[in-house]
Parts: sequence; C-alpha cells; structure tokens
Amino acid sequence: MTPRFYVTTPIYYVNGAPHIGHAYTSIAADVVARFYRLSGYGVFFLTGTDEHGQKVEQAAKNAGVTPGVFADNVSADFRHMADSMNISYDAFIRTTEPRHITSAQNLWRKVAENGAIYLGAYEGWYSVRDECFYSEDELITTEEGKKCAPTGAPVEWVKEPSYFFKLSAFQEPLLELYERNPDFLGPHGVRNEIISFVKQGLRDLSISRTSFQWGIPVPDDEHHVMYVWFDALTNYLSALGYPDETAPLMVYWPAALHLVGKDIARFHAVYWPAFLMAAGIELPHKIFANGWWTVEGQKMSKSLGNVVNPRDLLQEFSLDSIRFFLLREVPFGGDSDLSRKALITRNNVELANDLGNLAQRTLSLVARYCDGVVPEKGEQTEDDIKLLGQVHVLPDVLALQFKRCALTDALEEVWKVIRASNVYIARQEPWTLRKTDPIRMASVLRVLLEALRGIATVLQPFMPETMARLLDQLGVSDDERLFSALNTPIPTGRSLPAPQGIFPRYPEE
Ligand code: MSP
Repeated sequence: MTPRFYVTTPIYYVNGAPHIGHAYTSIAADVVARFYRLSGYGVFFLTGTDEHGQKVEQAAKNAGVTPGVFADNVSADFRHMADSMNISYDAFIRTTEPRHITSAQNLWRKVAENGAIYLGAYEGWYSVRDECFYSEDELITTEEGKKCAPTGAPVEWVKEPSYFFKLSAFQEPLLELYERNPDFLGPHGVRNEIISFVKQGLRDLSISRTSFQWGIPVPDDEHHVMYVWFDALTNYLSALGYPDETAPLMVYWPAALHLVGKDIARFHAVYWPAFLMAAGIELPHKIFANGWWTVEGQKMSKSLGNVVNPRDLLQEFSLDSIRFFLLREVPFGGDSDLSRKALITRNNVELANDLGNLAQRTLSLVARYCDGVVPEKGEQTEDDIKLLGQVHVLPDVLALQFKRCALTDALEEVWKVIRASNVYIARQEPWTLRKTDPIRMASVLRVLLEALRGIATVLQPFMPETMARLLDQLGVSDDERLFSALNTPIPTGRSLPAPQGIFPRYPEE
C-alpha cells in the first residue's frame, strides 16, 4: 500500500494582505509535500484561510464592507499568493464554507457529548490582535504603563457568558503525550516552552463569545459564536470530509505534519490535541513550528511601512531564488532576517557559482566534445566511485532530515555533494583530458552528469521550476524524476538540448 502523508499550513487570517511571513510557512510546507510525493507517498497538502472572529469583523468594518465581502477578497489574495509562490496545495479551505461550518459544529457536539464543555461566564483579558485569552500574570506593562499581551498586542477586559472547554482535565494526558512521543512537537525550544506552559497548570478555556456575531453559531445556542480557534483548528478535519468517517479523503487522517509559526504553537500543541482527545479522534503525528522573519533588522509592521509583499520581491528576484533563500538562510525553526544583501549573496554564491557553474561547465563540455549526447561510462576510478556513492545515498540522507523537519540541514547535505562535485571537476580537469585522454574525459563527464542529475532530482522540492529546467537539460524525462528513478542511470547516447544558464546573477549592492 502507498504510504500516506497529510501536511498542512496554518490557515491565514483574512484581516490583512498576505506578506512574506505567510509565504514562508506555505513554502516550507510545499517543500515537504513535494519531497514526500517524489519519495513515493500519497500526499494530501492543505492550505486555506481563517475568516471568522473579531479581528476580521473589525477589519471589514474599517474597510466599510461586510465581513463576508471582505473575507472573499482577502481570501482570493491568499490564493493568488499561494499560486504565485508555486505552492502545490491539493485543497484550499475557507472557514466560511458550509462544509467547514458543519464540521466545526459536529466537533463541538462530539466534545460536548463527552462532557468536556460547560456553560459559565468569562471575565478576563482578551487580545483581538492575537485572538487569544491571557491570564493576568502573562501580561506585560508597556513604557507608558499600559498592560499588553506578551506579544505586545493590546488587550481588553472582557466579561460575558461563555462556554468553556475543560482544558484543565487534559494537563496530564498532554504531558504524557509529549513525554511518550518526543517527536510530536518541535523544534526543541518550542517543545520545552510548551511543556513548561502546560506544567504550570491549565485553566479551562473559554470557547465561545457573545459580544460579536462573525463566527460559527454554537450548536443549540444562537447567542454564542465559537471562539475562532475552536473553529479554525477544525479546518484540518473539515477539508477531509469530517464528520463523514467514510469520506474518501478521511484516509489521510491523522495528519502527518501540521507546520505552524512559533507564535501559534500553543494553539496547535495544547488546544488542538486536547479538543481531539475530548472528541475521541486520533491525534496528528507531528507539529513543527517555524521561526519568525524580520526585514532589514526590523519587525514587519504596517506602521513602519516595511511589510514585504511577495509580489514585490518577485519583481526583482526569481521565485526559486526566494524559496531557496528562505529555507537556506536559517536552520528551519529559527528566526532570521530578510535583507536584500543576504538574498543576493546566497543567490550568487550558492546558486549561480556553486551549482550554476558546475552545471554550465559540465553541460557545455558535453555539448562541445561529446556531440551533445550522454557519453559512455568508462572504467570507474576511486574518485568516481566516491562521488557517485555520495549522490546515491542523497534521497536516504534527506529522508532522515525531513523526518525531523530539518529542511536547512537537508539543503546542506545536498551542498556537500555539490561542493564535492566541484572539487572533483577541478581535480579531473576534463578540459585538459580532452587532449590527453578523451576516453577518460567522456567518463568524467558522465560521472558529472549523473551527479548533477541526482542533485537536481533531490532539489526539486525546493526549486521546482529551476530544477525542472536543469533536468530537461540533463535529458531526464518527466517520468524519470521520482527519487526511485535514480536507481536507473541516464541512458548512454541520449541527446541533450543546448545548455542554458539556469541561475541569474544579481548585481552586488
Ligand atoms: N489564523 C491563524 C492560524 C490558524 S491555523 C488553524 C493565524 N493566522 S496568521 O495569518 O496570523 O498567521 C499565519 C502564519 O503566518 C503563522 O504561522 C505565522 O507564524 C506566520 N507568520 C506571520 N508573520 C510571520 C513572520 N514575520 N515570519 C514568519 N512567519 C510569520 O495565526
């Protein structure tokens, strides 16, 4: 049976325009989805938009339109962003869709039937920007002496009737879950933070609101709408057809991986598994949190006017240079800074020089001195065997890195092989062999073609468009691009198209 892999991005709030921070989580999830497809898994990849709640209601009001119209527009912007970033999602869910509303109400009913929901009254702090309840001791005081959320977001005092979820009852089961499955939550820093948050004691969670309307009605109580996080988290099930257990896509549950930003790890690693346990539904296998991007050293914010729209970045840089930069610049899970200088340097050094030159040199030698056809494999030297051995194990080496969401380490493993190939070409000097030993030259070029083919194949998830072009130039047909195809060499004698540079070089500042 084909193994399955269900991967999700967070669903994005439609209160404002998409920016590069949103694109980041989606690109990372896309790399994961593509990696598992190429490894032979049946993948289902979900993204979408989170459209209810007070924050969206307020944004619509400020724009002078109904929340429905507002959500339609911004949701379409997020879909365009996903398309322009080459995000290979299988489904795009919107929480205003009837299928999702039914699903969230069903989950609520299930949790209520199992006795984990009760009616009470909430009195305490709420941050609309974070859509999060905070306890007094979590708040910080600003320089002006105002209380605000630990994220810096404003908070307001809320007092209203509310349904509560018995989160306190799940403290021990959650701690057991983290303990029993050390891989359930990553990276380490986030895992430790969440464990200590849960150890401090969990209070029951308010899961409905009465002071505004833009939300999913609580079943059998029209005065309440669901707390937006109860609604939003359910999207991961709605998209598969929940509550219909026989829906064809339900075979993808439990999710293999929820990729999220570190700011929303708590909702995914504490609330979500608790809701699922309460409903008697299997838990996702892994939650992994990515870090936060600043821009030229500053936090992105509307007031600073430095919010980077991926569309603007695409005016100047190729999509694959951006995708590569975002995953290469910082170990996945850590925070980093997006600067033009760093983007240009990464591109010029690692793509244009390391990989681009290797490809260009090899392919133009084959074009010129092997009549543009894949040359024969001659007798193998120790150097040949060593390099091809490194290439051969790449899919397995990467599989280990992907298993722990170490996307940057995976790239580093590929770069080791690229650097080794550059050392190889410099040592073998095929341009000199042309005169002294043309048979050996052909053999060396053949080794380099195989190495490039392996490198391009495993880099497809990161740079799909560019690697497709490189594989075209290497004479690898569309049906030879799965990782498993690497076990079959490129047929000798296959003719290759005229080589063309694949990576643009950007002028240094
Ligand atoms: N709607 C919720 C998620 C619900 S999932 C059931 C939400 N939406 S969001 O639009 O505010 O953020 C979505 C994702 O974008 C989060 O994972 C967040 O970490 C990510 N990012 C937003 N700004 C970011 C940066 N500056 N850098 C990196 N990621 C950032 O939260």
